[in-house]
Amino acid sequence: MSEVHVYDVPDEWAKRAWIDDAKYRTMYKQSLDDPEAFWGEHGKRIDWFKPYTKVKNISWDIHNVSIKWYEDGETNVAYNCVDRHLEKRGDQVAIIWEGDNPNEQRLITYRELSEEVNRFANVLHWHGVKKGDRVTIYLPMIPEAAFAMLACARLGAIHSVVFGGFSPDAIAGRIEDAQCAVVITADEGLRGGRKVPLKANVDAALKKTSTVKHVLVVKRTGGEVDWTPGRDVWYHEAAARVSTTCPAEPVNAEDPLFILYTSGSTGTPKGVVHTTGGYLVFASMTHQYVFDYHEGDIYWCTADVGWVTGHSYIVYGPLANGATTLMFEGIPNYPSMSRFWEVIDKHKVNIFYTAPTAIRSLMGAGEEPVKKTSRASLRLLGSVGEPINPEAWEWYHRVVGDHRCPIVDTWWQTETGGILITPLPGATKLKPGSATRPFFGVIPEVVDGAGATLEGATEGNLVIADSWPGQMRTVYGDHERFVKTYFSTYPGKYFTGDGCRRDSDGFYWITGRVDDVINVSGHRMGTAEVESALVAHPKVSEAAVVGYPHDIKGQGIYAYVTVMEGVEPTEDLRKELVAWVRKEIGPIASPDLIQFAQGLPKTRSGKIMRRILRKIAENEYGALGDTSTLADPGVVTQLIDNRQNRK
Ligand code: PRX
Repeated sequence: MSEVHVYDVPDEWAKRAWIDDAKYRTMYKQSLDDPEAFWGEHGKRIDWFKPYTKVKNISWDIHNVSIKWYEDGETNVAYNCVDRHLEKRGDQVAIIWEGDNPNEQRLITYRELSEEVNRFANVLHWHGVKKGDRVTIYLPMIPEAAFAMLACARLGAIHSVVFGGFSPDAIAGRIEDAQCAVVITADEGLRGGRKVPLKANVDAALKKTSTVKHVLVVKRTGGEVDWTPGRDVWYHEAAARVSTTCPAEPVNAEDPLFILYTSGSTGTPKGVVHTTGGYLVFASMTHQYVFDYHEGDIYWCTADVGWVTGHSYIVYGPLANGATTLMFEGIPNYPSMSRFWEVIDKHKVNIFYTAPTAIRSLMGAGEEPVKKTSRASLRLLGSVGEPINPEAWEWYHRVVGDHRCPIVDTWWQTETGGILITPLPGATKLKPGSATRPFFGVIPEVVDGAGATLEGATEGNLVIADSWPGQMRTVYGDHERFVKTYFSTYPGKYFTGDGCRRDSDGFYWITGRVDDVINVSGHRMGTAEVESALVAHPKVSEAAVVGYPHDIKGQGIYAYVTVMEGVEPTEDLRKELVAWVRKEIGPIASPDLIQFAQGLPKTRSGKIMRRILRKIAENEYGALGDTSTLADPGVVTQLIDNRQNRK
């Protein structure tokens, strides 16, 4: 391994931050020695209508997986994110909204947020939404997305946000799985000057599912949309008819707050269920300590609310803390490559949280678009979603942060609800590419393939040995799948699906997924999902999908496709298949490379040997390992000869 550059904690950070190294060690030890006392104390950071008397009640026994935190407490997430701030900070800006067009912005104070959320909740209530009902939100990055999420929370309804880049089929599947009766969407979205036909996508989705009674449509662009009378409702018209007062429904700590679908190694996406109390405690506490959030800071997370990062670190964590959170509708390179940095200067952003893929693509445009901006307001930088390569880390630190801003490389997952492994900027020295140390209460372990726990500096699979309050509670409607996916590989431990290395300082380096999940530009995609989209095409007989290293996206999607008898594998067919997958799942699932294969390498029992396909896609065909179990070894030579990644 090349030598690692270590960045010590700057003195002023150790002094001003919430947590310095000594405090980290003390608190971490407390959190492990007596989790009941630790989380009992920190649970008080949110307001409870009925205080809890029980803190932690966990069973990870595969015969009875049950996860409960603060189980007899009652609260409401919208109350915590809005109402409780009104007295002290009613006039403080809660949400800075920066439009796709640099001339559009909105500043929404906590008082205005309260009015908007109450009104939205009344509109939902008027359309029959009550506690426990599921609501699909398919919106662009506009403030109404946050209003809608908080409005559901206010009523005790469960939201299922679907990323605006998903196709009608993907929306329909998610609506069906959660049995949603109401969908909230917009006429169109706007990204990089281009329109996204959101309402039209919902219309197409609703042809395939019958549970939806009402579609609330927010007017964003004013573009033409089709209308189904009786079903479709303009949000602004309904909003004009309701009051701005709607009581916050008391809900149990373990009542679900949201479902968020995410890809796994097999089957269709899973509905990850997060509940109320523990989730909010964990999101708000990690937001405060990891980003060292202080009163008055301007905080910007560039994620989309369609992903968990947007849930926990644009909406719930920051608003629970009474922060000012920036919500950005656009993309990093529109209208110019300086957009991120211009937004930072315009709104005097202090804390900036983005993904390695964005950093790598901006890095490609050189330093000038960054250096022509000031960025003097920046104090801290963050990274999330995939491993950050040391070159991108150094560039982020040197060019964007002017050597001045620590970088928190935060490792977590949709399933974990909040950040689990991360530096704390006043406490942890930094090593580019390492997510460093566990957050309070988190016990990472490295295990080998057989499940033995490895000690000291080592490498293997990452598991977590005990629960934390933000942990997902189940897969919606399929608890068995929850148990099987996360608790059966290493009984008694939560299996993350990630590989990692632990160095001699006890720092963790996440090496990426060890299952059949690929991470494309920080977006999770199951290879099985792309495969089933491909084989649904009439000209495809068989498909196998793997990831391969991609300079900007981290991983690209590589598909091996066998066509039906008599079909010509042409360039046009390749384009047709890419368009097909975009239509079936969405643009984020587009294969980057398609290799037409006469056959796939299989064992004699017919199992596809993915290890070999991965190696060929990585252009590492010299190290194929043992191929003696192949039914027809000749297949491999053909695959190598026609490989598509020749870098
Ligand atoms: O492989 C890890 C990678 O992203 C996966 C989780 O994806 P998702 O559920 O979509 O959540 C992304 C945002 C939290 C993980 O299993 N990952 C996430 N953060 C990092 C990371 N890999 C390395 N370093 C990170 N900081």
